Amino acid sequence: MTERRQFRAIKGTRDILPPDSALWNRFEQTAREVFESYNFGEIRLPIFEQTELFARSVGTDTDIVSKEMFTFPLSQEFEKSTQLEEGPEQRELVSLRPEATASVCRAYIEHNMQALPGNTKLYYMGPMFRRERPQKGRYRQFYQIGAEVLGQSDAPAIDAEVLEMLLVFFSRAGLTRTTLYINSIGDKNCRPQYVELLRQELQKVKDQLGADSQRRIETNPLRVLDSKVPSEQPIIEKLPRISDHLCDDCRAHFAKLKDELNLRGIQYEENWRLVRGLDYYTRTTFEVIAEGLGSQNAVCGGGRYDGLVELLGGPPTKGIGFAIGTDRSILSIEETGNAPAPDGLSVYVAWMGLASYPTAVWITRKLRDAGLTVELPPEEMKFKKSLGLADKLGARYALILGEDEVASRTFTLKRLADAEQKKLTEAELLEYLESERRR
Ligand code: HAM
Repeated sequence: MTERRQFRAIKGTRDILPPDSALWNRFEQTAREVFESYNFGEIRLPIFEQTELFARSVGTDTDIVSKEMFTFPLSQEFEKSTQLEEGPEQRELVSLRPEATASVCRAYIEHNMQALPGNTKLYYMGPMFRRERPQKGRYRQFYQIGAEVLGQSDAPAIDAEVLEMLLVFFSRAGLTRTTLYINSIGDKNCRPQYVELLRQELQKVKDQLGADSQRRIETNPLRVLDSKVPSEQPIIEKLPRISDHLCDDCRAHFAKLKDELNLRGIQYEENWRLVRGLDYYTRTTFEVIAEGLGSQNAVCGGGRYDGLVELLGGPPTKGIGFAIGTDRSILSIEETGNAPAPDGLSVYVAWMGLASYPTAVWITRKLRDAGLTVELPPEEMKFKKSLGLADKLGARYALILGEDEVASRTFTLKRLADAEQKKLTEAELLEYLESERRR
């Protein structure tokens, strides 16, 4: 006898069930509508790519690449010892995507999109994978909605328009209590000097820092600024700030970005410690924080990544974009009480007596064609039980269909909230329910 075994979703993954999934769909649909109004088109990307693509883009020393990717050899041949003996460089490793900016850049190059007129404006949505320690708002399979602009221009107006689009989307999606933080982390002309200065200053206070920050002094000193360790905060506050070390071009770019945001009436706060956890950023970086989420409160992160396309073997290209964390956004919408009520079930068809069944099937079809959500019980039920179920399912109306109704070619429509009943012909019924639906 086979052993009885219950399966559960793997830690860090989860099922999105109705009615939550309706909220997810609406959230994603709103993104499509808003992004398309800014002339973005959707790109659908593979779920896995060469590991090397992410290593090069996101950076080998980042947490994401060094410890969080789900990586496996592409084909079984690679497992065979003969192949392994040829050395690790012979094994083609692929990873489940931990983010999608690298894939968008890969696709931009592969499809020669620089030949297209104007800037290339793309959006995407779907699951991403990171082997993080699961907690509220942090999963191993999570979902992002992202947008990227690639092209020849790095005009700050592009950054500002991307941020405007993001905030218009959040407000339309019901995520209203948010704060936008911005920063500039310089470019290849000014950042290396700043990073060196930071490293020197950090060396002086090394003994007062925790193990993670101590390690980062060597691997990536900028990431020390991201530390949330309470005892490190007063030390970090005294470190040199990048804003005092930007080159003239980066300083002018950041000043113009702020003018552009003001022009659009976009509120923001500057945060000199916003360095982000991925290596590809230059100049503009930003994050949006939302309420109701505890420590995992970043609902969006993004920034400029001029030079990434080149790093991946493409032509010199400027880029900027963001990714919204859908899981956290939905959590915040729910916890701040802004979730719109789901449309739910409009009509429950309470039919009784086999003679009424054909009419029940056919009127159900008609109502569904008219765009209503309708439930038709598949088996005959006692009248009381049927209405009880209609109530439990949250139906707004019960359409009562018994022998009387069939004989008189009418329908009895009962509004379940106040038990008001009407006898209607088919035409009257359709007209009444359609006008209700539009309200
Ligand atoms: P990121 O900051 O790594 O940026 O991720 C963006 C957002 O994804 C985060 O703000 C968060 O809401 C969500 N997120 C990240 N990890 C998790 C997780 N384990 N569980 C739940 N939500 C998570 C990027 O991914 C960049 N590709 C953004 C970008 C696009 N930059 C330029 N273009």
